[in-house]
Amino acid sequence: MLNNILQIIYLLASVSFIIGLKMLSGPKTARQGNFLAAAGMGLAIVATVFLFQSKNGEYLGNKIWIFAGIAIGTILGTLSAKKVKMTAMPQMVSLFNGMGGACAAAISLIEFTHLDASSPSGMIFVVVAGLVIGSVSFSGSIIAYAKLQEIMKSTKKLPGHNLLTAGLLIGIVVLTALLTVGQINPTLFYLLFALSLGYGILFVIPIGGADMPVVISLLNSFTGVAAAFGGFLYDNQVMQTGGILVGSAGTLLTVLMCNAMNRSLTNVLFGAFGGSAPTAAGSGQKSEMAVRSTNASDVAMIMHYAQKVIIVPGYGLAVAQAQHVIHEMEMLLEKNGVTVKYAIHPVAGRMPGHMNVLLAESNVAYDKLVEMEEINEEFATADVVYVVGANDVVNPAARHDPSSPIYGMPILDVDKAKTVIVSKRSMAAGYANIENELFGYANCMMLFGDAKKTLSEVVAELKSM
Ligand code: TAP
Repeated sequence: MLNNILQIIYLLASVSFIIGLKMLSGPKTARQGNFLAAAGMGLAIVATVFLFQSKNGEYLGNKIWIFAGIAIGTILGTLSAKKVKMTAMPQMVSLFNGMGGACAAAISLIEFTHLDASSPSGMIFVVVAGLVIGSVSFSGSIIAYAKLQEIMKSTKKLPGHNLLTAGLLIGIVVLTALLTVGQINPTLFYLLFALSLGYGILFVIPIGGADMPVVISLLNSFTGVAAAFGGFLYDNQVMQTGGILVGSAGTLLTVLMCNAMNRSLTNVLFGAFGGSAPTAAGSGQKSEMAVRSTNASDVAMIMHYAQKVIIVPGYGLAVAQAQHVIHEMEMLLEKNGVTVKYAIHPVAGRMPGHMNVLLAESNVAYDKLVEMEEINEEFATADVVYVVGANDVVNPAARHDPSSPIYGMPILDVDKAKTVIVSKRSMAAGYANIENELFGYANCMMLFGDAKKTLSEVVAELKSM
């Protein structure tokens, strides 16, 4: 009877994951989707603790330990999620993902001690695969965290890096095969554990800072697969569903991000522009480009008399924490009868949905956020486009210059508007470390300075009109 109730709760939890995930795909429903899936997960955990019975009819013990663990995790998770800055979100996701990988590996480390030569090879494989994938995900995510947090700065490969990585991979395959065919030898198992940890480290070391979201998403899918293996091991459907959802969503997200940047996964993992960190002011730009600079007062004047203004937020908006002041500017313009919309590029910022979350924080209405495909048709009808801290995602070279590293990347066609204002601190390049020809266009004006400072000046001017 209790087991039936548990199965029904698992079913409800699985449904909550699926619906929650679906709701995450739109800014209006994302928060509720998150709460729904979290509630489903909470229910599944509590139900397992109280209702699960082993084959001998025993209930779970160690409840104090379990709830102490849950309490510590909840406190740490809630505090860090509340404190984290939007620009530091990728490293937090990476750290949490690493914990998921570590859990999957820990399950395998424990369950290995229950195996012997008579264990079915399918079960041995599930334990071994969970160890390998969980360990790679754990060590890779920790390196990703260290790099994003700038604890670890180098993206240089070690001497003989490729050979070493290939050697580790071969070792992992051979040991997995040996263990699966029944060589239940702890030395082989712990050696496999060490090789997998090493592989995760070497795999992430050469990847550049801003390519990390792609890698994190890939590692996230690994963690999902490792958790699904745990589900098969315990014949636990909610773990299987959760793991498979994370695995497939992570894989899809990885592919979508690569497509949005027009880069292959191999290119992200093994080189090209992601290998270099964003450049310091001035580098990466040709000096001969003639640019026109403007000031807050002129910008306010142009926008005050405009009918339609499109704001293009980018990574610099997050750095400057200018999301609140930009919303204030939007409201002032709207009060004056100007139509204001935000153009959202899929990879603007440093992680998926970065701009949506940032703008939601300052209560920008969701229906003002327009996706790239839709807004691109509107730029020609805009009087002013205000680009704030975005660079690569508005670079027209992506459309017509085959020699550009971002050639083929879909961009926001801001250059089609009557006037383009670009707010950034200098002529420095963006993440791709390339010159942006837009800055030299006749309809483009540069508003130099920190985005929050210049926007505040524009807001002050608008208020005085
Ligand atoms: P970027 O091309 O990186 O440009 C950001 C610009 O913001 C910089 O040129 C910088 O210029 C400016 N900036 C920085 N701090 C500022 C501040 N305090 N005030 C004003 N401006 C500031 O950003 P983007 O256009 O958003 O493009 C994102 C890039 O990241 C793309 O190349 C994309 O492929 C890559 N990427 C994104 C993702 C996801 S999922 N979003 C994942 C991987 C890679 P100054 O230094 O002159 O101020």
